[in-house]
Amino acid sequence: RGDFNSKIDYVFKIVLIGDSAVGKSQLLARYARNEFSLDSKATIGVEFQTRTLEIDRKTVKAQIWDTAGQERYRAVTSAYYRGAMGAMLVYDITNRQSFDHMARWLDELRGHADKNIVIMLIGNKSDLGTLRAVPVDDAKEFAQRENLFFMETSALEATNVEPAFLNIMSEIY
Ligand code: GTP
Ligand code: MG
Repeated sequence: RGDFNSKIDYVFKIVLIGDSAVGKSQLLARYARNEFSLDSKATIGVEFQTRTLEIDRKTVKAQIWDTAGQERYRAVTSAYYRGAMGAMLVYDITNRQSFDHMARWLDELRGHADKNIVIMLIGNKSDLGTLRAVPVDDAKEFAQRENLFFMETSALEATNVEPAFLNIMSEIY
């Protein structure tokens, strides 16, 4: 049948949050289009992209929302979180402050999102290991304490980007 492949069984909304420049938009570009840009511009407002995949013989459309890490560019918060089933809390492994802010982002998320939301902590830019400022153990400890899934990724090298999204989607499913 012509429309066989267009049948969508589920739509999963996933939101990306974290400080500016941690790589949220490039993680999304890598996952949705297999693209990466080194001179990525700061996001203004809200954008989303989709990717359709199969889980357990069902067709799932991932609708991934990306917003500005910079306060002045952020759009209305409650609308952003509304209906989100998954969230990726992203920090940059070379930027300690971006990790220290995770608690604040988590507070905002828990204040606005559904209480059953699946949350994944993401340490991005794992390709910059020589500049590492956040030990893996610190992140694991935080994730364990807050009950989050955790993975390090590199949007640049495409390391763990697929597994991270697949993991969050399988947990939602
Ligand atoms: P805002 O939109 O301001 O919130 O920032 P953002 O989190 O969306 O950051 P963005 O994706 O625009 O990336 C910021 C910078 O980090 C850009 O120069 C990217 O090329 C770079 N970057 C993103 N991911 C990686 C990565 O995995 N490794 C390296 N080395 N650089 C990355
Ligand atoms: Mg961005």
